[in-house]
Amino acid sequence: MKLRIVKYGDPILTKKAEPVTEFNEELKQLVADMFETMYAAPGVGLAAPQVGISKRLFVMDCSSGKDPKQKIAFINPEILSTEGEQIGDEGCLSFPGIYIEVRRPKRVIARAFDVEGKQFTIDAMDLAARCIAHETDHLDGELFINHLSPLKKELIKARIKKLIKTGRW
Ligand code: NI
Repeated sequence: MKLRIVKYGDPILTKKAEPVTEFNEELKQLVADMFETMYAAPGVGLAAPQVGISKRLFVMDCSSGKDPKQKIAFINPEILSTEGEQIGDEGCLSFPGIYIEVRRPKRVIARAFDVEGKQFTIDAMDLAARCIAHETDHLDGELFINHLSPLKKELIKARIKKLIKTGRW
């Protein structure tokens, strides 16, 4: 089932999410629904708070459905280490139509649990590293606009405020 994506302005997006404690059917269904929602959007990453659920999990597929090995659910993820940096345009499904330049690590080593509750470690580069950093931020209530300078952040917020006012957000 496709879920509704929560947009910037909803307080759930700036809240620290709670760890997942039960690896059950409900969790499997949520992960399946999040993948469906992400592919339909379309996007390469989606965190649970973005579908209104304040839990520490996200889904990612940097191949956009082309490579089954890249379809990964991260439950209770932790970033273990990062290396280097990359600067590039980034979007977020909770900020439709907004793309900003964000500096992220070039390489991210992260640990998480899969839907069965099995722990795994991933060594990711480039887009996957960017995605893991962005989605893990969501679980701490951190949004990509927080990486902007205060002035640029205010400009984006003003742009969104205008869109909200005119009913286009
Ligand atoms: Ni996002």
